[in-house]
Amino acid sequence: MVRFFTAGESHGQGLVIIVEGIPANLEIGEDYIATHLARRQRGYGRGGRMLIEQDRAHILSGVRHGYTLGSPIGMTLENKDWVNWETAMAVEPVGDTGDDERSRRVTRIRPGHADLPGTMKYGFDDVRNVLERASARETAARVAAGAVGMRLLEEFGIKLHSHVLSIGEVTATPPDPIDWDAVEESPVRCSDAAAATLMMAEIDAAKEAGDTVGGTVEVIAENVPIGLGSHVHWDRKIDGRVAQALMSINAVKAVSIGPGWDIISRRGSQVHDVIEPVTNPDHPWQRKTNRAGGTEGGMTDGMPLVARFAIKPIATIANPLPSVDLDTGDLVQAHYERSDVCQVPPAGVIGEAMVALILADAFMEKFGGDSIQETRHNYEGYMKTVGPRKRYQ
Ligand SMILES: Cc1cc2nc3c(=O)[nH]c(=O)nc-3n(C[C@H](O)[C@H](O)[C@H](O)COP(=O)(O)O)c2cc1C
Repeated sequence: MVRFFTAGESHGQGLVIIVEGIPANLEIGEDYIATHLARRQRGYGRGGRMLIEQDRAHILSGVRHGYTLGSPIGMTLENKDWVNWETAMAVEPVGDTGDDERSRRVTRIRPGHADLPGTMKYGFDDVRNVLERASARETAARVAAGAVGMRLLEEFGIKLHSHVLSIGEVTATPPDPIDWDAVEESPVRCSDAAAATLMMAEIDAAKEAGDTVGGTVEVIAENVPIGLGSHVHWDRKIDGRVAQALMSINAVKAVSIGPGWDIISRRGSQVHDVIEPVTNPDHPWQRKTNRAGGTEGGMTDGMPLVARFAIKPIATIANPLPSVDLDTGDLVQAHYERSDVCQVPPAGVIGEAMVALILADAFMEKFGGDSIQETRHNYEGYMKTVGPRKRYQ
């Protein structure tokens, strides 16, 4: 089982990550993980925080001389902003903090953030105790963990991509095939250059209005073997696992496998993917289309796994909504502190990480092995069985 834990507050000393279940002898290093962390930090519409942080995960355990040991991989990620928050976020009691602005209790609840349910649930009288962990700074830890998952998947030719489909009212028309290098270069991770320009204007307009803007993102995993996940139990279904993982990303409010809602009004003949006669033993079971998004019956079907998600506009708004004070219940303006205007482009990189971790888990569930050699042996053995039952076997 591949699983991971994260710890850390947004303005605390740093983030802690443990990834478990990765087989031994997988080549990995800090530079590889740093590449993915840098991808998360880019994107038009980010706030000032990303100028402060230059994320690099420090591997503490589970890797020796560039290869995994099969033991838990422990990592830390420093918060460079910590130096500005040492008093406000101190572990030990600090006593009277005088007029330190950052140490002041936050009581003006933001609608749309974790502030209200979090303070009620955990019995706090300072919203900071909630917002520090609810902050999407935690997603940097997910990307570090996801990079480990991606490295494992890469060994088996599985590659992940993401691109932005819409921001606000602007919708992209992705070319076919998508130029992934161009997506990486795009400030909004969009494959349609004309739409990207309009998306940036949309972000500028939201910023100008002291507001925020959301959008939709697509994650694609290529070369996924047929048969990951299972139809036999609800919690082993790969589509359900991917949906949960993507929905868990901060501010994600809807997930679909493949085009999702877009196909609901069509007839079955216009929805299901015709299976083509097998001509190539190395690539059996090709489809004319991939409307199923690469899953059938809770299992991967051999086509690319495609998942979309919708991310709501950020709740911390420069021109704040009316709200109430935690102490008095009286009308106030919601709390505002430095914030992104649009988090849609980096959300794609986080989505890739989450899908990678789910696929890595499903991959190890199917193929097992304590070393990468053993996993490969099992994978290759299975792949020989995947084909028309009376041919190629
Ligand atoms: C990459 C990323 C960056 C985010 N940045 C901010 C931010 O700067 N300010 C903010 O209020 N919310 C931000 N969010 C969203 C909040 O973390 C999220 O809305 C909050 O935790 C409440 O959870 P919910 O929206 O899932 O209900 C960001 C989300 C992501 C994925």
